[in-house]
Order: sequence, then structure tokens, then C-alpha cells
Amino acid sequence: MTTTPPAPLLSARSLEVAFPGRRGAATARAVDGVDLDIRRGEIVALVGESGCGKTTLARSLLGLVPPTAGRVTFDGLPLDRSGRALKAYRKRVQLVLQDPSGSLNPRHTVYDAVAEGLRIHGYAGDERAAVSGALARAGLRPPERFFLRYPHELSGGQRQRVVIAGALVLEPELIVADEPVASLDASVRGEILALLLRLRDELGLSALVVTHDLGLAWNIADRVAVMYLGRVVETGDVEQILTAPRHPYTQALLSVLPEGDGEPVILTGEPPDPSRIPSGCRFHARCQVLASGEAERAGVADACRTTDLPVLGGDGRAQVACHWAAAGASVTTAG
Ligand SMILES: Nc1ncnc2c1ncn2[C@@H]1O[C@H](COP(=O)(O)OP(=O)(O)OP(=O)(O)O)[C@@H](O)[C@H]1O
Ligand code: SF4
Ligand SMILES: [Mg+2]
Repeated sequence: MTTTPPAPLLSARSLEVAFPGRRGAATARAVDGVDLDIRRGEIVALVGESGCGKTTLARSLLGLVPPTAGRVTFDGLPLDRSGRALKAYRKRVQLVLQDPSGSLNPRHTVYDAVAEGLRIHGYAGDERAAVSGALARAGLRPPERFFLRYPHELSGGQRQRVVIAGALVLEPELIVADEPVASLDASVRGEILALLLRLRDELGLSALVVTHDLGLAWNIADRVAVMYLGRVVETGDVEQILTAPRHPYTQALLSVLPEGDGEPVILTGEPPDPSRIPSGCRFHARCQVLASGEAERAGVADACRTTDLPVLGGDGRAQVACHWAAAGASVTTAG
């Protein structure tokens, strides 16, 4: 008997965000046909090299950037981008930014920083209890000891916990964290990642964690979505993707990790430019499988050069947008 996976909490289908080019330059298709699902109580890592569109995708899922096409649904309903509906949505889906120093006002105490969201949303309950609870859930205990502190009196890890408490205070169902540990020392990174895992386990919180670090995804995610030039090109269970990647781009990213075995694949060719997305498979000009003749031997080289293909999020353990992988070739060839 097959079990149907639970309906996603957040879904994007054929999502596009294009930025008009400056001074006659071509339009930048920063997000170009993304399909992605985030289910309740799961952590999805969105990975890919700099400039591939991770932040733009995250911002458009939050309603901060209007999509040019496609749709986002949350809890089964299309995202309503009118002012009031968006405000209610932003209570349920919270953004956690990368640099805690940048996202905390240096003149606000910890208490005021965490209470800010409550005040914006006109919270009618016991503010002090809510702030205290959020700080405790973010691991700042006893919370009262932190109420009157200022950001400069805290460590980097504590500041990131305050930012997380500011998100938790509204009791969101999903948090979107853009590079949440990139600005932290290695020693503190593990603690913040452990906190996100604890929040998933104890509160059933879902999270989309944006990172360019596949190693980090390995430590935290239930599922991974790999993004290349505005498109999710491979998605699936973390173990499946990281131990048996099928897309040549994912294989290349994994091959250069310090713990990777086998030959590192150094990607050649132009760095990706969203104002010049190649026709055919968007990765074809840099693809090691096409360059080595393997795609030719599998009979898919023409398709690689001419036929674009999407990856659909959702059911199944893994999906991949690659003619060669779809032909079954990567299962025997990849390592
Ligand atoms: N407001 C904007 N106007 C024009 N182009 C933009 C804008 N915001 C982003 N872009 C372009 O869209 C592309 C994707 O940018 P984005 O910041 O989403 O990438 P990213 O994957 O988050 O990169 P990084 O890992 O460096 O944070 C880039 O080419 C960027 O230059
Ligand atoms: S479709 Fe072809 S060019 Fe694209 S990643 Fe797969 S093998 Fe490479
Ligand atoms: Mg970014």
C-alpha cells in the first residue's frame, strides 16, 4: 500500500520573478519556473551557488517580491497579496535574516526587538509573557536576564537567537531563514542549527533554510532543493540527494565538499547570468556529463542542447530536471 504524503504547507508552482534590465540590458529572470513544496514540520534546505536566485525565491514566497508569473499556495489557499491578507500571512510565515547585527536596531533592547512583531500585529495578550516565552524557546534563559540588554552586549550567537525569538513570538507555522548561520563562528553554527531542529521537533515548525553550503544542508534538512540559474533542478530527501545525486550540477557541488570522495568536478564555462539563460537545459554549457560525451552515449545530447525541462516538487523521494538522469543513466554512472 502506498501512503500519500501530507499536503504541503507552502507550495510554489511555475513561479517566476523577473527584474527589468537597467539601461537597455535584458530582463534578469532571477526565478524562472520554480516548483517547490514545504510540508508541515519539515526543514527544506534551498542550496545553490551565489546569484542562482535563492534570496529572490525566498522573498517572493514571503510576499516581499511580487512574482511575474506562477503561483504560491499556503495551507491550501492561493497567497492573497492584498495588504491585509499579506499582513496576516506574514504572521504565519516569518523571515529570519542572515546578519543579526544588521537586522537588530542597536538602540532597541532585546525586549523591544522581540516585542516589535507583537506590536505591529496589535497583539492583545500578555506581551511580557509572550516575549519571555519566545526568548526561552530560542534558548535565551532565563529570559528576563536578557530583557534590558542591547545587541552590542550580546555574542553573535545570542544576537541570532534574539532574531529567531522575534520570529517565534508570533507563533509562525513556517520560518524562512536566509543563510542563518553564514555570519557566525563555526562553534556557534552548530548551536543555532540544533535550535532549528529542536523547534521543528518540539513545535512542529516548518522551515526553509537558504544556504550555499551543502554540508549544512546535510546536518539540518529533511529535504533539499538544489537551485541552478533560477530553477530548482533536483529535489528530494536529504539522504537521497546527498548520497545519490542524479543531476550533474548536484554531483559537481557535492564533489568539491571536503568530505567528498572521488574526483572533484570543477565547473567550467561562464558563471550563470539570469539575463542570458541558455536554451535547452540551462546547465548544458557547463555540464560535465555533456562535455565528457556521456550524454551523447545515452542518446540525450540533442535534448540537452534544445529541450528545457522542469522539476516538479511534491510526491516521491526525489525529482530531477535532467534528460540524462531521466534516461536512467545517472543511476549507474554517478557515484
Ligand atoms: N532588485 C533586483 N534588481 C535586479 N536584479 C536583481 C535584483 N535582486 C536580485 N537580482 C539578480 O537576481 C539574481 C539572483 O539574485 P539572488 O540574490 O536571489 O541570488 P542568491 O542565490 O540569493 O545569491 P547569494 O547566494 O549571493 O545570496 C542575481 O543575478 C541578482 O543580480
Ligand atoms: S539535461 Fe543534459 S546538459 Fe542538462 S544536466 Fe542533464 S546531462 Fe547535463
Ligand atoms: Mg542570497
